[in-house]
Amino acid sequence: PQALPLDRLGRPLRDLRLSVIEACNYRCGYCMPADRIPEGHGLDAASRLSFDEIEVLVRGFARLGMHKLRITGGEPLLRKGLPELVARLAKVPGVDDLALTTNGSLLAALARPLRDAGLHRLTISLDALEPAVFRELSGGRGELADVEAGIAAAEAAGFDRLKFNCVVQRGVNDDQVLPLVERFRGTPHVVRFIEYMDVGTCNGWDRSRVVPSVQLRDRIDARWPLRALDARYRGEVASRYAFEDGSGEVGFVSSVSEPFCGDCHRARVSADGRLYTCLFAGDGHDLRPLLRHGELAVADRVAGLWDGREDRYSELRGSAAGSRRHVEMFLVGG
Ligand code: GTP
Ligand code: 5AD
Ligand code: SF4
Ligand code: SF4
Repeated sequence: PQALPLDRLGRPLRDLRLSVIEACNYRCGYCMPADRIPEGHGLDAASRLSFDEIEVLVRGFARLGMHKLRITGGEPLLRKGLPELVARLAKVPGVDDLALTTNGSLLAALARPLRDAGLHRLTISLDALEPAVFRELSGGRGELADVEAGIAAAEAAGFDRLKFNCVVQRGVNDDQVLPLVERFRGTPHVVRFIEYMDVGTCNGWDRSRVVPSVQLRDRIDARWPLRALDARYRGEVASRYAFEDGSGEVGFVSSVSEPFCGDCHRARVSADGRLYTCLFAGDGHDLRPLLRHGELAVADRVAGLWDGREDRYSELRGSAAGSRRHVEMFLVGG
């Protein structure tokens, strides 16, 4: 059997974030603003990995100790036949956590087929509860009502603990934070507030628009007292807080104010089969030519690449070493 690799900083490879499509039906300003990323920017369908190729790739990663698989995009629900792919990946030995991050717009029709295919967990992006703000944030393309229908369908299909991601931008949607907390308090679902990050090359990131998580935590705590919870596992991305009154929990992803690279066990693969060892990596490593040689060839090559990994961008942010060009968010799914 293959030895489990550790990178240069002693970190194992535990999670894979796999993009199945680079296209999206939204144009969120922090990810793929419409003026920078026109329609038809994408790869043509032929340059995306096939389901057979994806399965070989995932089996290769699983041999290296990857046990948590998250399907991303672009918007993954745009990929044709997605439930069939999920059913295949759910059967890969070693994959004990299979999750998907979606904007929720197409979930009403797909929640049940995805559940039946064996998807364990769903995370839905939700930046606002005010329909006009929601539409604006999606680049004028998203309707909150569709996402609401998707949430209802997900609950009905048996996804009983949804996660909601809200990327907070000062002066843009920070007034949506308390309403979002209120909406999901008292449900089994968890809202996480994400610091706006300088990912990709086209969002015109500006630090003054980042709301540090401590400020949000204090704001929420003043209304509904909070108590810090321990991480569920080492390297969990969100820090968790419970409501003192027992009505559930909220989370914060603070990669700008409190980087968590020290425990980063995540690899990312784009829809065309390139491996990125960091969300902020410049270049990927093309794995596609290996796929016809089978999962052992993939495991071997990825082990070699992981061995040389020393990424810790969020810890270097702003320094010379941290200021290189990096991959677009919609190619690696966050
Ligand atoms: P679970 O813990 O399995 O629920 O998933 P998650 O929180 O890791 O996944 P999700 O797709 O919901 O990501 C939440 C946010 O964290 C997104 O904005 C991601 O871009 C961000 N994120 C996830 N992993 C990393 C990482 O390794 N580095 C940085 N800087 N951000 C990350
Ligand atoms: N900063 C923080 N989070 C982002 N996401 C997309 N772009 C950014 C950014 N610039 C989030 C999406 C989604 C998750 C996978 O990544 O909203 O919830
Ligand atoms: Fe699409 Fe998600 Fe990017 Fe928004 S953040 S443009 S929904 S991929
Ligand atoms: Fe991992 Fe890179 Fe994110 Fe740091 S910045 S946590 S190394 S993906």
